[in-house]
Amino acid sequence: MVLKGKHLLNSTDFSVDEIFSLICLAEKIASNPEKYSEKCRGKIMASLFYEPSTRTRLSFDAAMKRLGGAVIGFSDPVVSSHSKGETIEDTVRTVECYSDIVVVRHPEPFRPHKLSRYILIPLINAGDGPNQHPTQTLTDLFTIYHYKKRLSGLKIGLCGDLKYGRTVHSLIKAMDRYDNNSFVCISLDNLKLPEEISKEISSEIIESSELEISMHDLDILYMTRIQKERFETIEEYENSKGCYILTRDKLDFAKEDTIIMHPLPRVDEIHENVDEDKRAVYFNQAKAGMYIRMALIMMLLGISD
Ligand code: NCD
Repeated sequence: MVLKGKHLLNSTDFSVDEIFSLICLAEKIASNPEKYSEKCRGKIMASLFYEPSTRTRLSFDAAMKRLGGAVIGFSDPVVSSHSKGETIEDTVRTVECYSDIVVVRHPEPFRPHKLSRYILIPLINAGDGPNQHPTQTLTDLFTIYHYKKRLSGLKIGLCGDLKYGRTVHSLIKAMDRYDNNSFVCISLDNLKLPEEISKEISSEIIESSELEISMHDLDILYMTRIQKERFETIEEYENSKGCYILTRDKLDFAKEDTIIMHPLPRVDEIHENVDEDKRAVYFNQAKAGMYIRMALIMMLLGISD
């Protein structure tokens, strides 16, 4: 599997076989992390976050450190030369001089794609505005595979902000490549999955505005946050927030083996009383994110198992 030196910009950049290799490696790492603790000794990862993040940034950070590597970078561009007027292209070219791999989150769609043309070391898109979030998708696929033992023949409910939610955009494209998956897109009218994405999907898509009614035959319910920061007006956000709230009693509508996923952070869309239910897997999903990122870093750096 030759992922060495590649960039990861979109959730479908890697073949399904390459993704399966990543999942297998992540599983091995999760079951014996000690074995991998020196794999990236002497390597440096640069982490450039131009947008807020908790899980993605910290899990990349933890992943590299658990592999014995080091991390440089910033979590707020205000402390970088960005605030002196430096272009991000110049920042990335400079960072290439110091590091072996670079992770970039940026509010503008396709900015990481453009930046990747300036450098030869692997660049990972850690989220580009409302567009894509490929490493969240790797996390999601690893989690789904862990609980369902397959990535095909699944009915997946996607609920919340399907318009601006990059995790949904990346996940639906990635899951569309496996056989017999279908999607139930549950959202308000103003937050529907954009048509330019739905027209690319060949699997069945059912649209719904009702969470309870849609839940009964789902294998996976993927909840998402209403993305306040992406709305054009605060009024539009105010009219949309709180539209879908999953509570413990609503889970009675779901199957016993439905898994409840969420990329996190949550605001109010999943009540805390759901956390105790065995179907709620979102914190395990966050942990899976660290292991799959360890696997990804190793493979992009060409480090063998
Ligand atoms: C998501 C993101 O940043 O797109 N979070 C994450 O990376 N785990 C989802 C969100 O911000 O709502």
